[in-house]
Amino acid sequence: MLEVVILAAGKGTRMRSRKPKVLHKLAGRPFVGHVLERAEELKAEAIHLVVGFGADQVRAEYAGAPFNFVEQTEQLGTGHAVQQCMDDLKDDSKVLILYGDVPLIKKSTLESLLNVVKEKTMGLLTVKLKKPHGYGRIVRNANGKIVAIVEQKDADKEQLEIREVNTGVMALNAKHLKAWLPRLTNNNAQGEYYLTDLIEIAVKEGVEVVGTQPDSKHEVAGVNDRKQQAELERIYQEAIAIDLLEQGISLVDPTRFDCRGRLDVGADTYIDINCIFEGKVVLGENVEIGPNCFIKNSTIEDNTVIHANTIIEDSHIGSDCTVGPFARVRPQCRLESGAKLGNFVETKKAHIGKGSKVNHLSYIGDAELGEDVNIGAGTITCNYDGANKFLTTIGDRVFVGSNSALVAPVFIGAEATIGAGAVVTSDVAEKQLVIARAHQKNIDGWQRPVKKK
Ligand code: UD1
Ligand code: CA
Repeated sequence: MLEVVILAAGKGTRMRSRKPKVLHKLAGRPFVGHVLERAEELKAEAIHLVVGFGADQVRAEYAGAPFNFVEQTEQLGTGHAVQQCMDDLKDDSKVLILYGDVPLIKKSTLESLLNVVKEKTMGLLTVKLKKPHGYGRIVRNANGKIVAIVEQKDADKEQLEIREVNTGVMALNAKHLKAWLPRLTNNNAQGEYYLTDLIEIAVKEGVEVVGTQPDSKHEVAGVNDRKQQAELERIYQEAIAIDLLEQGISLVDPTRFDCRGRLDVGADTYIDINCIFEGKVVLGENVEIGPNCFIKNSTIEDNTVIHANTIIEDSHIGSDCTVGPFARVRPQCRLESGAKLGNFVETKKAHIGKGSKVNHLSYIGDAELGEDVNIGAGTITCNYDGANKFLTTIGDRVFVGSNSALVAPVFIGAEATIGAGAVVTSDVAEKQLVIARAHQKNIDGWQRPVKKK
């Protein structure tokens, strides 16, 4: 059985923030959220989250989630942090210790680490760095076996030359952890209870410490300040971008692309620069996304073109549609195939039937449009009376003239025609023509008003 302990009590002083460090975001999710996801993927029986600075904020972020929050009221060191959840661990578990501020760790890396944990062995994730400054150094004996970790501040000159460092991630049997944690002391340069001192204890007890390594050093990079946060964000985004390129998707510039969630894309889809994808987004095949689009929790089907500067949220866009430029598709819209939304069109809770067009400067909200409807420029569905929202229903092949106001609730029958500038307040039957405006009068010799002296 696997239990995961995630250390997340630190303040993260260098972030210069009121928020605890682990709630700062990478790809739109808190750092600790990435770590929690890995723990869940490993099918951990229990996940213990050690919180301290800003504990309430962390609890609030994950309210209702099945995590065991353990409070470390004073941050007396990484060993002390793990001690806080000792009583919550089952004796026969394997325990994996992760850091809440190391977001890019991969599942496969953790699996290899867990695999080395046996009755008489424990696992330690280490990495070789060109610049090991700041990290705990891995001390190996003449046979190459790990015998200790020495913290930067406690290391002598010779030890400071060691390039293999402690990532902080380790895996061991709970019964070992429980036996050894009470033996830690804070007799060191920082006056802290170091988790890293477990290594020497293990060796003394005849438990071999087996080092495993991640595929890349980014996986074990911790975030300490906003500069490192921005660096990791780009590393994360680049990996997704490369993956998409390999799948046969065109990204005009992989460095100007952001995925903050999950993006599934079909072949031959083309994504221009500065697009942001949030939540779960599905793009079909041969879709074209223009520059500067923001797309969240939506599906866009095959052969659809989304022009520049379009925003789409919680909606479904069918195949062969055209949307934008500068369109805003708000939640709960559904466009059937071949539908078209043009520039400066806003839609909300709207169903746009097959081949229907809303080409310019409109607001279509709480509306149900049939097929091949044409909505003229500047048409507004007046869906709100100041207290309640109402539905506008428009039948197949209706033609709405420019600058019309459709005051909901209102029903317009199939093939009706609405003359430009109408204010439609009552239902229209099939094929009727509606003229609802003052009739034009042409007055000869009209004298314009003049300014009073
Ligand atoms: C630790 C390791 C060091 C390793 C480095 C990798 C120890 C003694 N040293 O050092 O060998 O190279 O990580 O980044 O373990 N935390 C708590 N409570 C505490 C102290 C820390 O929850 O009382 C959490 C922090 O929030 C952070 C993590 O533990 O997520 C690491 O703490 P940090 O102070 O950054 O440890 P380092 O000194 O970097
Ligand atoms: Ca650190």
